[in-house]
Amino acid sequence: MSTEKTLILVKPDGVRRGLVGEVISRIETKGYAIDALRMLQADEALLAQHYAEHVGKPFYDPLVEFMMSGPIVAIVASGNRVIEGFRSLAGVTDPTVAAPGTIRGDLARDQGTKVIQNLVHGSDSPESAAREIQIFFPSNK
Ligand code: RTP
Ligand code: MG
Repeated sequence: MSTEKTLILVKPDGVRRGLVGEVISRIETKGYAIDALRMLQADEALLAQHYAEHVGKPFYDPLVEFMMSGPIVAIVASGNRVIEGFRSLAGVTDPTVAAPGTIRGDLARDQGTKVIQNLVHGSDSPESAAREIQIFFPSNK
């Protein structure tokens, strides 16, 4: 069985606040490997693919606007159970209630914005991870 992979994003708020290194450090300190990494400016087409499950939801347009508000960093990390493990490192979606010790719990809070800004994304299943890795790293299998 090959080692599990996940797609992690440092969102524009994380890049703006200079937290790319902190996020990478938490991934590496936990013991996962960084397999690939790139900085990019997302566009609407890419985000429609990435957030396909959210198209049409009330927060979709603000989410896209937020995700295009600056560069993001896309990372492929690997290790046994890394999908579940990174979701655990990230904490729950709402940073106000994300547990202290997590990325969102330690480093993010409610900013009063139309959409939740919570620093990072992590794939939520093996199917999502495979799909999302192909979106951000088309040559990476
Ligand atoms: P992610 O996909 O970014 O790892 O976050 P998640 O699984 O914890 O949350 P998900 O439900 O997939 O939502 C994707 C992102 O959309 C924004 N969001 N805002 N009610 C809201 O304002 C709302 N709901 C979701 C967040 O940025 C969330 O991470
Ligand atoms: Mg999600």
